[in-house]
Amino acid sequence: MGNTSKNKPGQKMAIFGAIFLVMTLLIFYSSNSGNESFRYIPLKGALGYHLHGRTSNLKQWADGDGYLPVYGNKTMQLHCGRCALVTSSSHLLGSNMGPKIDQAECVIRMNDAPTTDYEKDVGNRSTMRVVAHSSVYRVIRRPQEFLNKTPDAILIFWGPPSKIGREAKGTLFRLVQKVGMAFPNLSAFIVAPTRMQRFDELFHKETGRDREKSRSWLSTGWFTMVIAIELCDSIQVYGMVPPYYCSSRPQPKKRPYHYYEPKGPDECTTYIQNERGRRGNHHRFITEKQVFARWAKLYNITFSNPRW
Ligand SMILES: *[C@@H]1O[C@H](CO)[C@@H](O)[C@H](O)[C@H]1NC(C)=O
Ligand SMILES: *[C@@H]1O[C@H](CO)[C@@H](O)[C@H](O)[C@H]1NC(C)=O
Ligand SMILES: *[C@@H]1O[C@H](CO)[C@@H](O)[C@H](O)[C@H]1NC(C)=O
Ligand SMILES: *[C@@H]1O[C@H](CO)[C@@H](O)[C@H](O)[C@H]1NC(C)=O
Repeated sequence: MGNTSKNKPGQKMAIFGAIFLVMTLLIFYSSNSGNESFRYIPLKGALGYHLHGRTSNLKQWADGDGYLPVYGNKTMQLHCGRCALVTSSSHLLGSNMGPKIDQAECVIRMNDAPTTDYEKDVGNRSTMRVVAHSSVYRVIRRPQEFLNKTPDAILIFWGPPSKIGREAKGTLFRLVQKVGMAFPNLSAFIVAPTRMQRFDELFHKETGRDREKSRSWLSTGWFTMVIAIELCDSIQVYGMVPPYYCSSRPQPKKRPYHYYEPKGPDECTTYIQNERGRRGNHHRFITEKQVFARWAKLYNITFSNPRW
């Protein structure tokens, strides 16, 4: 018996007791903090959450004019056979997927993810770019990269009507409108207020959770995936990890959240902090991926880098 603990049994008990007390207090405290109407309850040890919702037919999930032209009278009439949905994840670095991505009929990108200097891994074509209200400035600031380079691309801006809508206070709408005027070959749209509402309802229906009450923000990935399912016969997604990736053991190695921000935050840290975040609003990246995994079984969606 080489087990020669210096602690006497009594001391051990006291230490265990103290740990138990601290744990209990922590659990008590965390279950009382935040004031949302429900909590995201982690599955045994893993991150990710039970989906209570039902699924919708996304090929015809919403009708009417979902996308309003920011200038002129263009309508969104894109239909694509094979689409490449290129995420902004650093999983793409070193992938050499550029040529394969560029072979797709339509290439869909998000926010201010650039292609310059990353062509080898992410390709150089952009048919459509889905941009969050919070990324508008970052896109407009680099017209050579995002507005001039692919003159006939489609830009879809999403955001709360109070921020980016026609009637919103502030300059965001006018800014986007100027882009529409200055680059007439671009087709720039804003997600209509009624459609924004439908995106919220979709989240509620798929997850069983009210977006606002659960203090969730939808991600650009959520909008982009839904729009891609609407427009594309099949989708190859590049760089998206599966829902449970960040809780797998051994822990995945650290890597940047964005391929174009090598010194930016770590991917899994970002996902986990957002998924767990209760104070304020947060993206539920992991929950969203669970929904994507469900959609992948219903629509022709495949994932590469990593493959799943
Ligand atoms: C769009 O506007 C242009 C010029 O303002 C006009 O020539 C064209 O007929 C309009 N198209 C539709 C579909 O209304
Ligand atoms: C994209 O890359 C291919 C080869 O990788 C090249 O032939 C083509 O000219 C590039 N297109 C643009 C728009 O940069
Ligand atoms: C815009 O589109 C028109 C018609 O398709 C084309 O003739 C023109 O060269 C395009 N302009 C740019 C800047 O690409
Ligand atoms: C899914 O899409 C791929 C690529 O377009 C195609 O080859 C395949 O036949 C499709 N599968 C189904 C089940 O439709």
